[in-house]
Amino acid sequence: MDQNLLAAVEGGHDKLASLSSGENVLSPSTEDPLWWRHAVIYQVYVRSFADGNGDGTGDIAGLRSRLPYLAALGIDAIWITPWYASPLADGGYDVSDYRAIHPDFGTIEEAELLIAEGLELGIRTIIDVVPNHLSDQHAWFKEALAAGPGSPERERFWFVDSEDIPNHWVSPFDGETWTQTTNEDGTPGQWYLHLFTPEQPDVNWNHPDVRKEYEDVLKFWFDRGVGGVRIDSAALLIKDPELSEVVGEPAAGEHPWQDRDELHEVYASWRAIADSYPGARALVGELWLPDVERFVQYMRPNELHTAFNFDFMSRQWSAQQVRESIDMTLNAHEPVGAPSTWVLSNHDVTRPVTRLGREDSTFSFLTKEFNTPTDLELGTRRSRAAALLTAALPGSLYIYQGDELGLPEVENIPRNKIDDPMHFKSGGTKPGRDGCRVPLPWTREGSSYGFGEDGASSAWLPQPHGWANLSVEAQLEDDNSMLALYTRAIKIRHESADLREGGFTWLTSEPGVVAFRRGESLTCITNFADQPVRLPDGARVLLVSDELVDGELPQDATAWLAAK
Ligand code: NOJ
Repeated sequence: MDQNLLAAVEGGHDKLASLSSGENVLSPSTEDPLWWRHAVIYQVYVRSFADGNGDGTGDIAGLRSRLPYLAALGIDAIWITPWYASPLADGGYDVSDYRAIHPDFGTIEEAELLIAEGLELGIRTIIDVVPNHLSDQHAWFKEALAAGPGSPERERFWFVDSEDIPNHWVSPFDGETWTQTTNEDGTPGQWYLHLFTPEQPDVNWNHPDVRKEYEDVLKFWFDRGVGGVRIDSAALLIKDPELSEVVGEPAAGEHPWQDRDELHEVYASWRAIADSYPGARALVGELWLPDVERFVQYMRPNELHTAFNFDFMSRQWSAQQVRESIDMTLNAHEPVGAPSTWVLSNHDVTRPVTRLGREDSTFSFLTKEFNTPTDLELGTRRSRAAALLTAALPGSLYIYQGDELGLPEVENIPRNKIDDPMHFKSGGTKPGRDGCRVPLPWTREGSSYGFGEDGASSAWLPQPHGWANLSVEAQLEDDNSMLALYTRAIKIRHESADLREGGFTWLTSEPGVVAFRRGESLTCITNFADQPVRLPDGARVLLVSDELVDGELPQDATAWLAAK
């Protein structure tokens, strides 16, 4: 690693430590069996985090070199997006071998070192498992194509004989979900199902080989010490064997390819595997479900530990919307005994600084438009407020890499550099998700802001001009930076039993203000109204997202208070 950057990261460790009490900033012990209930989990999009070998692509070597940065930030775990062998037709969510690392990212040995080094710093590693589909370059699919219609190899997928497209299921990426193969003699062959791109054929979960294979993949990685698994497209695995059309709004449990009841039995068997390992290995579901009652059923005690709560980021930035989402989420989770999660963004959605700076601040999956008017200054202020608000809520907290730096969505990626299949599936009308996947800026200078060594290949997605002041290096020197705010918040959260485990109580507040207490004495107040709001008398301010004005909390700001 570049000497200057090394100094910045090492210096950064001390600097971040000194932002609060100056004590050891390492996360709590990795022995805690309930760690997943209140963990702070940092999402690493490995291709864009840090480039250790200077080829312009992030990798495990880069990630290992920055573990001190993550330890200083105070997180408990990292979730790494797919790092497996893959043609990268969908950023690695098209896996050709679940037991091998993509050579651009490193090797299995490096993955093992990362897991071990992380644990030494109190950081667990959560990996991404993709069980709904695999790559068309995976051995199973290649064998199925070669073996031809009617072969046992094809039964692991959804191959269908049909004159016309077998049905009209619409992909979450837009467009059709079937591709017709060509027979050896050049005649039209069978169709196969792919809910996402044609390069991602869906596997058939009614087939015993499929169940066994993914259970073995879980064991392969649990044996290597991973602390958990994030399950991609977790609600989509089971399909109606009749492949019936989607008619209107199907009743709960009757959608032909989403949220089918048979899924619960799959996750119960995964839970049994996770529980057979020491050290509380956690299962985290990616479940986009509109019905919160159905959603929480996946977190009954013998199924998943947690699932991403996407409702919160689908709301407008308003007191009423935010309060409603928190209420709904907490009330739904309570009866199943599972903790909720709080997620402001991830590698699929518009960065919060941009999203919250728009008139419509809701997120709806994969429907971003080019050139939406945005006020980044407003978005940054609101992102700071949102960071403190979500960090004060009960449950686990997810931070997507770069949000701790307040990076905006990159909206001017040259068309010839766009990589995301979603852009192409939209016929080029939508920008796709690359704008939130641009490599991180680590230093003010350097050919890729320290993402790779100076003089190394430029980053795989171009970084915009003007990111010097958003770099880690610059923010480590600024006590008011987004990075400083996140670091302080995580530190307080770890030290406060109220924030980690305390109860949750709404407090009466003025219109446009959201206020609640955690445990005995910690109060969180967010002001959405256009007037500053008075803070309660006799409270000590622990942390604010924005400067108080004459002792009052300004609009779009959050304060954490403690009883004096
Ligand atoms: C959800 C992942 O987060 C996204 O990036 C991916 O494209 C789809 N699942 C398909 O695997």
